[in-house]
Amino acid sequence: MIADRKNDHVRLAVEQHRPGGGNEFDDVTFIHHALAGIDREDVSLTTRFAGVEWNTPLYINAMTGGSTKTGDINRDLAIAARETGVAIASGSMSAYLKDPASAPTFRVLRDENPDGFVMANINANASVAHARQAVDLLAADALQIHLNTVQEIVMPEGDRSFAAWGPRIEEIVASVGVPVFVKEVGFGLSRETVLCLRKLGVTVADVGGRGGTNFARIENSRRAGGDYAHVGDWGQSTPACLLDASDVGLPLFGSGGVRHPLDVVRGLALGASAVGVAGTFLKTVLDGGPDALIAQITAWLDQIKSIMTVLGARTPADLSRCEVRIRGELRDFCADRGID
Ligand code: FNR
Repeated sequence: MIADRKNDHVRLAVEQHRPGGGNEFDDVTFIHHALAGIDREDVSLTTRFAGVEWNTPLYINAMTGGSTKTGDINRDLAIAARETGVAIASGSMSAYLKDPASAPTFRVLRDENPDGFVMANINANASVAHARQAVDLLAADALQIHLNTVQEIVMPEGDRSFAAWGPRIEEIVASVGVPVFVKEVGFGLSRETVLCLRKLGVTVADVGGRGGTNFARIENSRRAGGDYAHVGDWGQSTPACLLDASDVGLPLFGSGGVRHPLDVVRGLALGASAVGVAGTFLKTVLDGGPDALIAQITAWLDQIKSIMTVLGARTPADLSRCEVRIRGELRDFCADRGID
């Protein structure tokens, strides 16, 4: 049952990722300053947040595990992470916590990538014991906890109890022993939510905004007569979330709807310490295997560096000082939320 669901998610997510689609990242443009350029060799992609240092500000976000087929996908993703040096997250490890026989489909993330930065992933209903078990299986460097109320509600078999999520997160943060990154799965984190997460003691808020993979649509289309089509545009886009929560004082990651290197640079310029990609990389790895993903990530890192050179940004953090223009829907959002 869980294995079928995991296979469905992969199939339906890939169908959503067709090249050329627009989203609110397109509402962010840089003011070009023709004398701002610096020497490319002076640009470093190293990013630092909350005492953590990554060689690149890019990571492969949580996707999968729990079935034979998704174990194979995890192996390919892990090889790409190892070869390019980007961090990687596991998909939700609930399947393993319910059935330890599925452990190898997740553990492959560490087996193939022994020295990389690997994140375990659980839902916010998990106990502290389960959080530790997930971290231990992967010898994880951090724990992602996903918030996905919309997805659960649309799933007939999904959770219906969300009130305990805050206290659960607080308990896990206090005792799991690794940094905790809390993420949405494509509907975004509001400023108010990020403020709550800061109070709960989490290390990073990954805004996981609208604009890419849409789990309301995925769950809706998994059954005949699905009747949640109206929640298709629920939530805030990734750029909107980054602008909304920029002054909260908690490190932010930007993910959701990232299509190409310019989106990564836009996310960093809007204040993200790192930018995560799920659907776009999933499509690449399914179409062309690990070699295609290695080539894509290598090309992205190269292009990110080139764009930073033109913008005069020596580090990802420098990008937040670049001048951007905000237009369209995103501008309306900023006006509604009182963001300057
Ligand atoms: C996901 N995502 C996800 N997130 C999570 O925290 N736990 C999970 O198990 C999964 N599973 C999953 C499966 C598949 C097939 C995809 C494509 C995605 C959500 C993912 O991490 C990310 O938040 C969203 O997909 C939005 O990013 P993209 O896809 O627009 O880059």
